[in-house]
Amino acid sequence: MSLLRTHYPWTKAPFLASAPMLGAATPALAISVSKAGGIGFLAGSANSDALDKDLQQVTSILAQDRTAEANSSDILPIGLGFQLWGAKLSVAVSAVKKHLPAVVWLFAPSDERQLQEWSRALRVASQEKTKIWIQVGTVHDAKRAVELAAPDVLVLQGSDAGGHGLKRSASTVTLVPEIVDYLASKHGASIPVLAAGGIMDGRGVASAIALGAAGAVMGTRFLAATEAGIAQGWQKELLKASDGGVSTGRSTLPDRLKQTVGWPEHFDGRALLNKGHEDEQAGLSDAENVALYKQELAQGDDAWGVHGRMVTYAGTGVGLVNEVKPAAEIVREVHMSARNAIQNASEFLTDSHYVLKTADPGPSTDDAPSPTMPLVRIEVIRGRRSRDQLRKLADAVQEVMLQKFNAPARDRYQVITQHEPGDIICEDTNLGFERTDDIVFIQIFQQGRTGDVKQATYAALAEKLQAECGVKGTDLIISCSENKREDWSFGRGEAQFLTGAL
Ligand SMILES: Cc1cc2nc3c(=O)[nH]c(=O)nc-3n(C[C@H](O)[C@H](O)[C@H](O)COP(=O)(O)O)c2cc1C
Repeated sequence: MSLLRTHYPWTKAPFLASAPMLGAATPALAISVSKAGGIGFLAGSANSDALDKDLQQVTSILAQDRTAEANSSDILPIGLGFQLWGAKLSVAVSAVKKHLPAVVWLFAPSDERQLQEWSRALRVASQEKTKIWIQVGTVHDAKRAVELAAPDVLVLQGSDAGGHGLKRSASTVTLVPEIVDYLASKHGASIPVLAAGGIMDGRGVASAIALGAAGAVMGTRFLAATEAGIAQGWQKELLKASDGGVSTGRSTLPDRLKQTVGWPEHFDGRALLNKGHEDEQAGLSDAENVALYKQELAQGDDAWGVHGRMVTYAGTGVGLVNEVKPAAEIVREVHMSARNAIQNASEFLTDSHYVLKTADPGPSTDDAPSPTMPLVRIEVIRGRRSRDQLRKLADAVQEVMLQKFNAPARDRYQVITQHEPGDIICEDTNLGFERTDDIVFIQIFQQGRTGDVKQATYAALAEKLQAECGVKGTDLIISCSENKREDWSFGRGEAQFLTGAL
């Protein structure tokens, strides 16, 4: 992440980009994504006037918002994508010279040597300020892209992706780690990769990170952003669709219907399957299918359904897209849910979670062992609080344990320890916090609470201790430790959870 943060300093973790989607990725969408801490992309075509107009619009929207973090350097905090088979290098070079976007994203060359030619020319045009990202869909293409163009980032597009991609490709789940391993063996860890294809929410981003990616690119999910430049009929169908493995399909039919000529032979596109696909299967000729498609263009938003004929590009993750909302909200939601997903997943690494959640669950979940008492150690610095204040602090902690941590009643176990000044050493983990001697260090020994329960507990502790005991949020440190039922003895030297006494 650090390399990406250096190059794109306005971005927040986990690293997230909206895909360049020709026709759909508007200036408003790109800016919203970047301002929310991601990196938004425009898609450039061979039409220099249209591209310049879009970039002018980005510049002027940003000029109205001088406060935006994404606005703090001389580079334009968005990226610009090109499908090389149909784009013009001269158009890209003049756009880069004039507007200095943070990134140019290269995709789908008709000849791999274009990658070298484009990356060289664009680096010169931007005096190395504009970074080069290349989207590939196979291990072979990743190797060649690195050899020819030494990209700053590789975007790895798996077969689940919406829109154009390779006819033959692997899922993101296998593509990403194989390329990550290759890059690590040949190039150290110097080229970050981003995963694309089927990533719709924080869980997808978390899985991309677990596979070795530095972050993710989302296309289909941003088609359901308020700012996306697509027909309402298209957006409505995205919300309706589910089960993308069945409701979408890869085919060259979208290009044939739209009479788009020039895509390299090995590409096709993933879209919702509809009447056009059905008729093709039934033997309708391209000429007849195109004629029907053109007729139906006049139907406007009604022409998009399963029984319509419009090309409704969408990835297999379409069933996870259920709402149209502003792009910034999507970014914030994905950031937060990715963190939760990683935290929740990490609990599956502890034996006790495994025992509680999966071992002999019995006939119903009601039989699962109920959460046990937590042992809470509260560590403070001597001389800062009276005995009454310490008791109040401990009472407040206990209340949160009961309300948020599912601690059973009459099961209070707390140890308060006062340390000499200087005997609690807590730095700020680079968070920019100032600690004071009123610091409260809480250690909770417990079993099996989920990440959500823990997060709610931390938030409630911060709020309550601030309100009732004057503890600043930056002076509150909490650490949860996991143990097992067999780790407790409540008296007489017996392991009550094992003997059956509890
Ligand atoms: C409607 C649409 C248009 C797209 N247009 C482009 C494009 O112009 N250039 C490009 O490099 N990728 C394009 N893509 C592919 C994306 O870069 C990305 O790989 C893909 O959206 C990721 O998969 P997802 O849709 O499952 O998120 C497009 C995707 C969609 C859905």
